[in-house]
Amino acid sequence: MSSPPHILVTGSSRGIGRAVFDSLSARGAQVVGHARHDGPDVIGADLEDSGAADALWDRALERLDGQIDVLINNAGVFEPIAPESPLDAWQGAWGRTMQINLQASADLCRRAVLHWRARKSGGRIVNVASRAAYRGDSPAHWHYAASKAGMVGMTKSIARGYAGEGILAFAVCPGFVMTGMAEDYVASRGGEKLLADIPLGRVAQPEEVASVATYLALDAPASMTGAVLDVNGASFVR
Ligand SMILES: NC(=O)c1ccc[n+]([C@@H]2O[C@H](COP(=O)([O-])OP(=O)(O)OC[C@H]3O[C@@H](n4cnc5c(N)ncnc54)[C@H](OP(=O)(O)O)[C@@H]3O)[C@@H](O)[C@H]2O)c1
Repeated sequence: MSSPPHILVTGSSRGIGRAVFDSLSARGAQVVGHARHDGPDVIGADLEDSGAADALWDRALERLDGQIDVLINNAGVFEPIAPESPLDAWQGAWGRTMQINLQASADLCRRAVLHWRARKSGGRIVNVASRAAYRGDSPAHWHYAASKAGMVGMTKSIARGYAGEGILAFAVCPGFVMTGMAEDYVASRGGEKLLADIPLGRVAQPEEVASVATYLALDAPASMTGAVLDVNGASFVR
């Protein structure tokens, strides 16, 4: 790893990604952020475009003097589509969610693995998946759960495939995380009854997820590679 470590975090303009960006920066890492549009501390790349993730890697590499040590795939969408919708809307929603949540993450993981293998340097990937990968989600979110389950399978494959070369891969599976205005957030996730399903009695804060991502990015022992860590207030215990 470079000193300080060079890190790319996707979806760092708000929510969990913002908290991850702040937490890693506070640890002294050199962090490049990302969102859909260029901004003061983010590279713009709309991950719905099929070439955007690959181009993002190139731009991040340029900003980080040609070396990235840690990739954090956090950008994602949680958009409903009911199975009663017309086929074209249904397939459009599936395509968009799979492209942003899974394919773009895969494209970045691919570049990271190729980069680290070429440099013989090792590196770390932290994929922000979801409790939905294991538990499933609402009738309007089959595609979301499928995209996150795909992310977990991809993470484990990378961990098993490249551990011997010092390339480590982890996933974090948050349950509900308060990333927007509290009222809007709760309403978008099914209203007050969501709390009844969380033994801890509250949703997680973005900083709680960020602390786990920071640990995996900087501190976790190599023997943990392939681990999937839950952050869900015991709302789903595996
Ligand atoms: N919040 C939860 O309850 C929860 C639970 C489990 C898992 N997660 C996962 O945690 C991750 C972060 O979630 P969050 O709630 O913090 O999200 P959020 O507040 O909605 O922020 C999403 C981030 O992703 C970026 N993004 C969205 N669509 C994009 C696109 N088409 N191209 C590029 N960037 C895009 C956004 O950039 P812009 O600002 O440019 O839109 C933003 O930085 C996601 O992968 C999500 O699935 C969240």
